[in-house]
Amino acid sequence: MFSERIYNFSAGPSMLPLPVLQQIQQELLNCSGSGMSVMEMSHRSSAFDSIFQDTKSRLRALLQVPDDYEILFLQGGASTQFAMVPMNLMGRTGRADYALTGNFSTKAYEEAQKFGLCAVACSSADQNHTYIPQQEALQLDADASYFHYCANNTIYGTEWNYVPDTGAVPLVCDMSSNILSKPVDVSRYGLIYAGAQKNMAPAGVTVVILRRSLAGSAPENTPTMLNYATHVKGDSMYNTPPCWCIYVLGLVAKWLQEDVGGLSEMARRNEEKAALLYAYLDESHLFHAAVQKAYRSRMNVTFRTGDRDLDAQFAKEAAAAGLSNLKGHRLVGGMRASLYNAMPIEGVKALIDFMARFEKEHI
Ligand SMILES: Cc1ncc(COP(=O)(O)O)c(C=O)c1O
Repeated sequence: MFSERIYNFSAGPSMLPLPVLQQIQQELLNCSGSGMSVMEMSHRSSAFDSIFQDTKSRLRALLQVPDDYEILFLQGGASTQFAMVPMNLMGRTGRADYALTGNFSTKAYEEAQKFGLCAVACSSADQNHTYIPQQEALQLDADASYFHYCANNTIYGTEWNYVPDTGAVPLVCDMSSNILSKPVDVSRYGLIYAGAQKNMAPAGVTVVILRRSLAGSAPENTPTMLNYATHVKGDSMYNTPPCWCIYVLGLVAKWLQEDVGGLSEMARRNEEKAALLYAYLDESHLFHAAVQKAYRSRMNVTFRTGDRDLDAQFAKEAAAAGLSNLKGHRLVGGMRASLYNAMPIEGVKALIDFMARFEKEHI
């Protein structure tokens, strides 16, 4: 039991910025003089419409989304995008390229195989996904309908250190675990998708940013709700959208714009946080980073002692000290510290202090 807020290193759902939680608390019963909570609002009401439009325009401004791109607020998690992407985009040539650099990109690839011919453009499975294949290693099909990759591998702790060049083939990117962590040139992508529960909002909304010309070519028998054209036409209001999550996303976007000062400053802070922790890991005689230097994620830092029991003891003692959710994913073991946007640098320093004390006791 804690009487104060702790540092939550969960990979998702994850910490939200404190000022955002405080504003939610303030507005919980009566949002902007509407006399009701956002949870109780009709999605067709003018009160909710202004929240919805505000969220969308803040996201558009933060990511500098070009005019010929739509921003959609969908449901079903990023996992539903594993199917929606091929259902909507594979029709052009019946083929697609997939980069396999971790668990979720492999799941996306497996799902897409139900809809057409998928080729493995590259894979890091040979080294247990501890690196990102570079441009010259990509086997590109000039006739692919799209090229799919996952920008940040949440479980393994790797992050793409470049944007692949696929010529005229549209890039499709799963940015679930690093969206809004740095500026992105949206115009290089055909479609970007991200579940909200790491850097954006509570679980329940999936943001899709797509070049408008890519919507509208799904086969006739595509279920209505799984057709991007439905949501482009209905401005994400074909059915009831995840209103609460859209509201919180708007507050997070406002926090990024007004408190943080934009995505370049957010990127600087994220680099600083990750650099601190990796520097400690590289010096430590007990803990070791799990990933090769050039491909280390700024969002999910994976590390281990090499002794399973000691790893478990560390995660348990850290949790008791208010540093929670440091146990690594079962696929890789060890530990994982997720340092998303809302994790303050004080949290990273507290973690390093705790690790240093633990190291002294166990070396
Ligand atoms: C990179 C990435 N892609 C996809 C997913 C799956 O997201 P969802 O649970 O929203 O379906 C996750 C979940 O952690 C993820 O980290």
